[in-house]
Amino acid sequence: MTIRKIATIGHPVLREVARKVTREELATAEFQAFLDDLVETMHDAAGAGLAANQVYAPVAACAIHVQNNPRYPYKPNIPLTILINPEIELLGTETFLNYEGCLSVPNLRGEVPRHVEARVRAWDRAGNDLDLHVRGLSAGTYQHEIDHLFGKVFLDRVVDTTTLTTWNDFERFHKEAFVKRVTALVTRFGS
Ligand code: NI
Repeated sequence: MTIRKIATIGHPVLREVARKVTREELATAEFQAFLDDLVETMHDAAGAGLAANQVYAPVAACAIHVQNNPRYPYKPNIPLTILINPEIELLGTETFLNYEGCLSVPNLRGEVPRHVEARVRAWDRAGNDLDLHVRGLSAGTYQHEIDHLFGKVFLDRVVDTTTLTTWNDFERFHKEAFVKRVTALVTRFGS
């Protein structure tokens, strides 16, 4: 396995709509090794998720894994999940303001409205159908990663740009209120 380099904001690969993966391609040893690299790179960078185009491969694959994450200590755990060709359907009209960060947007965070519920359909890495109903703070993580595969980064969805903050100043000025708010959300949805 190889830890890959992560593209940062400004690189055109982050703006590409990822192409779909075929079943034949997914089954190859080469593609499976790429997925291993994607997961290893996400773990190495302590990301909650990583999309393939963030490692310069504009194919519709992303990984999500939250396990007591030091970058986001208030995030509920999500088991390691690989989504191939994911499609997201936002459910209902209720949203919450998520304070997001991104490995491709170094040292910046900002508030993004996200739906509290969504349905995600995809394949897993073996090509089996996944049909997930995602809720709460975790729903924001799915929306963020799937956005990447459509060429979007969280900055595109920041409505109030006065919420933009460095990670240091997030800790100093914004974290307390945010954690209080999302703890209520996590308590409500259990995720
Ligand atoms: Ni990101």
